[in-house]
Amino acid sequence: MTILDGKKTAADIKEELALEVAELRNKDKKVPHLAAVIVGSDGASLTYVNAKVKACERVGFESTLIRLPENTTEEDLLNEINILNVDTDIDGFIVQLPLPKHIDEQKILMAVDPDKDVDGFHPTNVGKMALNLPTFISATPFGILELLDRYNVETSGKHVVVLGRSHIVGSPMSILLSQKRKVGNATVTMCHSRTKNLKDITLQADIIVAAIGIPEFVKADMVKEDVTIIDVGITRMADSSKKNGFRLVGDVAFKEVSEKASFITPVPGGVGPMTIAMLLKNTLLACERRS
Ligand code: GUN
Repeated sequence: MTILDGKKTAADIKEELALEVAELRNKDKKVPHLAAVIVGSDGASLTYVNAKVKACERVGFESTLIRLPENTTEEDLLNEINILNVDTDIDGFIVQLPLPKHIDEQKILMAVDPDKDVDGFHPTNVGKMALNLPTFISATPFGILELLDRYNVETSGKHVVVLGRSHIVGSPMSILLSQKRKVGNATVTMCHSRTKNLKDITLQADIIVAAIGIPEFVKADMVKEDVTIIDVGITRMADSSKKNGFRLVGDVAFKEVSEKASFITPVPGGVGPMTIAMLLKNTLLACERRS
């Protein structure tokens, strides 16, 4: 069994990015600049956004964190987005999700200039991704493709079962892996909460992408020998023995499933770090496209 080490792979990618940034700095006298907007003070979201900003600093990007209070109106947030859209200093920006309930998420995502949409959430970019045209592929699916690529996991002709149909992971992952691309050409089955006979389906999977947000949902008796497991889940479970009072748990019962798997991502240290590295990659791409 091989651990798909996202932490190590993300570190490799960040090293590569740092070299490219140094080149840009010498050649064009500029570095990529990412901005992140966060509304409210949800602990997990703040942790993720801070990790994104810190990663920018590590590779030599400029970064701007814009923190807005929980009671920010939709109009105020739209204004903030318009400012970032026209700010020539900013190459790309993200609006951290989820947003407070009084704000229409779709309206916000549609206000982002597609050329600065390094999350790849704007309908224009989702459409381009679905048509296999050049665009920003959103960071989590992009990170999974990159991880499979760097570990030479064969996807062509394989049966991939994607658990979950979210706009951020399940849906784009299903589309991308079925496309004619280097990591792709798979036969994809997408399962969700209404799927019947789920175990019959997962038992046929060569590769499982678990993105449903239910801790340890995938058990050993649901997978076949030599399966490849990509675990996108990161649920915080209370754990008083931990310094911060919680531990992170994936959608897969790691210990028992790893005994049957040929490749498996750990949680933490699998998909999570890859997501941040690919966001940086998209920001570099945005910067290069603008110059
Ligand atoms: N919330 C969970 N994942 C993401 C992500 O990739 N981007 C943003 N903006 N918010 C998220």
